[in-house]
Amino acid sequence: MPAMQIERLLHAQGFGSRKECRALIRAGYISVAGVPCENPAAEFDPGSTDGRPGLEFSVDGQPWRFRAQAYLMLHKPAGYECSHKPTFHPSIFRLLPPQMLTRGVQCIGRLDQDTTGLLLLSDDGQFIHQWSSGKKRTPKVYEVTLKHAASAELIAALLAGVELHDEPEPIAAAACVATGSHTLDLTICEGKYHQVKRMVAAAGNRVEALHRSRVGGLALDPALASGEWRWLEAEDLARLADFPPEGS
Ligand code: URA
Repeated sequence: MPAMQIERLLHAQGFGSRKECRALIRAGYISVAGVPCENPAAEFDPGSTDGRPGLEFSVDGQPWRFRAQAYLMLHKPAGYECSHKPTFHPSIFRLLPPQMLTRGVQCIGRLDQDTTGLLLLSDDGQFIHQWSSGKKRTPKVYEVTLKHAASAELIAALLAGVELHDEPEPIAAAACVATGSHTLDLTICEGKYHQVKRMVAAAGNRVEALHRSRVGGLALDPALASGEWRWLEAEDLARLADFPPEGS
């Protein structure tokens, strides 16, 4: 990436309009690699053309690294909606720094307000499209807590396929294993509305709690507490794409 004026660079990272970024610089809020910078036209090499961390700078003492694209994982808590215009609960975007909203970060697929676990977000339109499309048949693993016992019949029904209202064909779990008397790990390759809850209901049981632990080959980072987020690094993106073809 060619050198960029600091004003453009801050704007690209979501720190406000060009005018707002110019004002931040002139007011002395910005340092680049530890050196104060009050000239909006000063040029720097951003040091990254993708999601990798590049140039170090700070805004009002807060350290940042330039990233041409944003790829994130969030440990979604219960009681948050995956929407910019939530209806009954706060938006998950409140859990991210405001720059993420300004730079257009979106959820990749949605989790229900009461579902917890791994949520991916990005501002890379192609990436969002690729990973939210059902065509890719990305396996997603859910830890399901059930109202009634995780019986062999329930597991057999989910693996064989259940009829869902509005779906022309039965939908089958890609994998399903009991992990306790009332818990399952259920893997699905679609991303239909309330899919896990509807599948479990169609098989005669009821979801009491739902947690997504994995998308593709990428697991929720155990170091992330509920409500915390982190950047996805190159290794995470490689892991995400690393899953065996269906049926193997
Ligand atoms: N299936 C559901 O029913 N809810 C979710 O949040 C995700 C998958």
